[in-house]
Amino acid sequence: MSPFIQSAPKAVYIHIPFCTNKCHYCDFNSYVLKGQPVADYLDALEREMALTVAAVPPGRIETVFVGGGTPTVLLPDQMERFLTMVARHFPLDDPNLEFTMEANPGTTDEDKLAVMKAGGVNRISFGVQSFDNGLLHKIGRIHNTDDVYRSLENARKLGFDNLSIDLMFGLPGQTTEHMRQSLDAALKLELRHYSLYSLKVEENTLFHTLYQKGQLPLPSEEEEVEMFLMIRERLQQAGYEQYEISNFAKPGYESRHNTTYWRNESYYGLGAGAHGYVSRQRHVNVKGIADYIAAAQGGLPIMEKETVSEAEAMEDFMMVGLRLLRGVRRDDFARQFGGAAWMKYSARS
Ligand SMILES: C[S@@+](CC[C@H](N)C(=O)[O-])C[C@H]1O[C@@H](n2cnc3c(N)ncnc32)[C@H](O)[C@@H]1O
Ligand code: SF4
Repeated sequence: MSPFIQSAPKAVYIHIPFCTNKCHYCDFNSYVLKGQPVADYLDALEREMALTVAAVPPGRIETVFVGGGTPTVLLPDQMERFLTMVARHFPLDDPNLEFTMEANPGTTDEDKLAVMKAGGVNRISFGVQSFDNGLLHKIGRIHNTDDVYRSLENARKLGFDNLSIDLMFGLPGQTTEHMRQSLDAALKLELRHYSLYSLKVEENTLFHTLYQKGQLPLPSEEEEVEMFLMIRERLQQAGYEQYEISNFAKPGYESRHNTTYWRNESYYGLGAGAHGYVSRQRHVNVKGIADYIAAAQGGLPIMEKETVSEAEAMEDFMMVGLRLLRGVRRDDFARQFGGAAWMKYSARS
């Protein structure tokens, strides 16, 4: 067997598990902010950062992604503290560093954006979901389209030019025409990047309960396909390449952080419920806030950890790589598994 090579991660994912409210479709590891021990959570996160880099010192960090939850529910002083500790524990001196933060429209005033900018964030991904106020309300979002326009305008004013938005399709009561209107509004903003997700009805969500009772009027599969084809055509006409199933970008503005996952490369994963892939081991952190804080007192707050065999890693490499338009590359494969591995793998498969 050839050596299975995994160098020190160049990517860092950090999870902020708080949201102003819980959207009707969402099963992400996120909790309603009110009454949560945010300062204790940040303390625990800092301990996890210190223990993580002590265990496996980072190479040059190329991407940081702060996701959620809603990272931008942190108040400006909490945000400043958070970003200072990221920079204290991880080397962020790469001039091409991509530092993304997820944000909800309406949670980014100018003060907070200024702190984010000063703390090194240079890419923001806004969860817009739709430009239809009625639909936004129906899916449990607390923002409206005015919040979207104001948030993007503020971000641009503060000098953020690498902006992305998430939109959802296949929503209850949504038609292809509704989706076309949302997409047209989105394209008028001329952003660098768009993510388009088809609604997945996840267990333990309000939508799942409604679905089981037959009270969720979802578009048919044919309508959903029609929406997707329309989305792809319109984005391509506007000069965006579909570089991954759900992701479209102007050339050079593909999410480098998410591409790390699709190339099956290693990454640190920190925060409650975060996943990481470091030194051939995949881990999932403790999910609940209080449990995470308690676990971080005594060491790394890991819930599950497994060593990935070379054969499994090769399968993973193929599976996630095929999400990318560029597909899987021999040279990437060789970098991870050694020079002769491709021949051996193709002979086996
Ligand atoms: C962690 S959230 C983004 C940040 C922020 N919390 C927000 O919602 O605006 C990531 C994205 O996943 C998508 N998403 C979440 N739940 C989904 C579901 N059940 N089906 C499809 N897409 C979903 C949404 O587009 C959402 O913006
Ligand atoms: S979709 Fe985003 S804002 Fe809504 S609950 Fe999930 S993580 Fe929070």
